[in-house]
Amino acid sequence: MKPSMKVTIAGVELKNPVITASGCCGYGREYDRLYPMEKLGGISLKGMTLEERQGNPPCRIAETPSGMLNSVGLQNPGVEAFLRDELPNLTGRDVVKIANVAGSSIEDYCAIAERLDGSAVDMLEVNISCPNVKHGGASFGADCTMASQVVSEMRRRTKKPLMVKLTPNVTDIVSIARAVEDAGADAVSLINTVLAMRIDIKTRRPVLHNNVGGLSGPAVFPIAVRMVWQVANAVKVPVIGMGGIEKWQDAIEMMMAGAQAIQIGAALFYDPYTPLRVLEGMERWMEQNGVSDINEIVGAVRPW
Ligand SMILES: Cc1cc2nc3c(=O)[nH]c(=O)nc-3n(C[C@H](O)[C@H](O)[C@H](O)COP(=O)(O)O)c2cc1C
Repeated sequence: MKPSMKVTIAGVELKNPVITASGCCGYGREYDRLYPMEKLGGISLKGMTLEERQGNPPCRIAETPSGMLNSVGLQNPGVEAFLRDELPNLTGRDVVKIANVAGSSIEDYCAIAERLDGSAVDMLEVNISCPNVKHGGASFGADCTMASQVVSEMRRRTKKPLMVKLTPNVTDIVSIARAVEDAGADAVSLINTVLAMRIDIKTRRPVLHNNVGGLSGPAVFPIAVRMVWQVANAVKVPVIGMGGIEKWQDAIEMMMAGAQAIQIGAALFYDPYTPLRVLEGMERWMEQNGVSDINEIVGAVRPW
């Protein structure tokens, strides 16, 4: 008998735990040409803001050993254009649609939450890595008070499940996870990219025009596993793990650390079929190891 891959996150059922990560598959259109997105458990859409954003000037992507740096700067068409031009292509399709929401003030986040409330998206992923322009640019996700404020205000404005995406660029990710759980988050996802920098020694200029950017890909995987494990041991809400997953073994490992579902980002850029390979490998491993239900391995790590 085929193993059961079904998982339930914040009351939303996913046919399998594999989700494409925000910013790495747009709004799914390009993937439509490769394979049916219905094969995925979910798709986390490109981060959207209230108004259109052009993003940062180039260069905004660079390769690094076992990873990539990016400073795309949340280029997106804005929530109205998303609802008008992109969501119709996703509506009615059998894949969990996760809208990734970003803003530079609490009012921005709340306005987007309200606008998406009656829409066909299944869940909101709250990207709190953005700088709060009203509070000197400090990231919402780096401060327990700001993180919980944004979540509790959004909670009052939407009935959609809220999955709060945590940044690894903090001293203590567990305290941020607890703060957003107390504020009403239905799930947490982690990690976003790790703040990083490269310099071209010929020109003496930073490789990225923004000087600094976010590191993702296999290079960050052990950091992500550590953080998922710590957070999963500290909160009751479901944890969605990501950061460097490229092989099925990584997905199993991330789930053993405590993730109930996983997201795949950077690996999509060099192999868009990664999610299908990961799924197949997970199913095969489960069959070979007598695991009939994927939920059995969540948090199955046996710490020393
Ligand atoms: C080019 C690029 C764009 C991204 N854009 C977003 C975004 O809009 N919103 C967001 O929450 N995360 C964004 N991320 C972060 C990813 O969703 C993910 O959290 C991170 O890259 C770690 O996973 P990975 O190593 O599998 O890529 C982006 C990552 C990359 C590489």
